[in-house]
Amino acid sequence: MSDTLAPARALRIGSIELDAPVVLAPMAGITNTAFRRLCREYGAGLYVSEMITTRALVERNATTMRLITHHESETPRSIQLYGVDPATTEAAVRMLVDEDRADHIDLNFGCPVPKVTRKGGGAALPWKLGLFREIVTRAARAAGDVPLTVKMRKGIDPDHLTYLDAGRIAEDAGVAAVALHARTAAEFYSGTADWSAIAALKEAVTSIPVLGNGDIWSAGDAVRMMAETGCDGVVVGRGCLGRPWLFGDLAEAFGAEHITVDATLGFVARAFRRHAELLVEFFEDEGRGCRDIRKHVAWYFKGYPVGGDTRARLATASSLAEFDDILATLDLDAPYPGAAAEGQRGRAGTPKRPALPDRWLESRDLDAAQSSAIADAELDHSGG
Ligand SMILES: Cc1cc2nc3c(=O)[nH]c(=O)nc-3n(C[C@H](O)[C@H](O)[C@H](O)COP(=O)(O)O)c2cc1C
Repeated sequence: MSDTLAPARALRIGSIELDAPVVLAPMAGITNTAFRRLCREYGAGLYVSEMITTRALVERNATTMRLITHHESETPRSIQLYGVDPATTEAAVRMLVDEDRADHIDLNFGCPVPKVTRKGGGAALPWKLGLFREIVTRAARAAGDVPLTVKMRKGIDPDHLTYLDAGRIAEDAGVAAVALHARTAAEFYSGTADWSAIAALKEAVTSIPVLGNGDIWSAGDAVRMMAETGCDGVVVGRGCLGRPWLFGDLAEAFGAEHITVDATLGFVARAFRRHAELLVEFFEDEGRGCRDIRKHVAWYFKGYPVGGDTRARLATASSLAEFDDILATLDLDAPYPGAAAEGQRGRAGTPKRPALPDRWLESRDLDAAQSSAIADAELDHSGG
């Protein structure tokens, strides 16, 4: 299904050598071990966990400990951390490294969710240069030989861009790569990503790989982003929702080993069913796994001849046997529908004025009130 062939491209992130310059973007509630395994089976690259909050990790919260588990087929193991406190972030990194729980650690500075930015976390944090520097420096030091990367947005809004400073600081701090989701927090997921910012970051950060992220819906888009921006690799999020085999197309486009699929409705139904089964295995609970797969229904069957009633039944089924009965009623020979199955999927939304702590934008240093607000920004649950 890929339309572009490029010469074989690999990507090195610290000690990790990837056969293709492709990363599955961390997505809360999506990129658990079940989905990562499925994506990895088709292609090459790095497959990142959903975000894990540093406090929940150091407190060994039971849900968090489940979220950081990897299947034995998952190498290298990659975990994304969300933290706002330098000491807690350092402790979380140290724990992952000392206990040999990850081969790659990513730090999330891109979250635009109001409950996070209101306290100065996520995409709001790099505005405070000293705090950002301290977190990244301590984390990179604690990571030792395990490559640590940073994922960020362009900034808070068009008047408060942070990515060039943050990229240079991260480079100085010893991180192994930086990834840019080329939107501001204010943009949320709206409009189109500004790939020219990825090119600008590539010019500013010269000694480590720069990865581009935003609006890759096909392998052709990935090749185009690399050609247009000069970035060293791509991070793919929403484009693979409901089609983990996109990683096969991506690997093919970059000349790596891959599995090519003929995405008939029968194929999609089997992949959906397998995803459900892997979720049941992950949650160790059939009802829970079957409820979790419901959010994937519209993505898997986008563009396929599946009627509204059937979609509604799939979105309410509560056992694997029930899914089998419903899937058996589909026209399994229906071919891949082409354009109808392509294009944008997942979150879009509208721009929003970011919620921020009082007087956050007045200075790039923290004041006392902000320091205490930020201590509170440490979420106590993961994957939020
Ligand atoms: C459902 C969902 C959950 C997300 N969760 C995270 C997350 O946990 N950590 C993170 O850094 N980014 C998260 N993101 C952002 C993505 O990693 C990515 O940066 C964004 O979707 C833009 O890439 P795309 O256009 O390829 O989707 C999430 C995005 C979505 C749609």
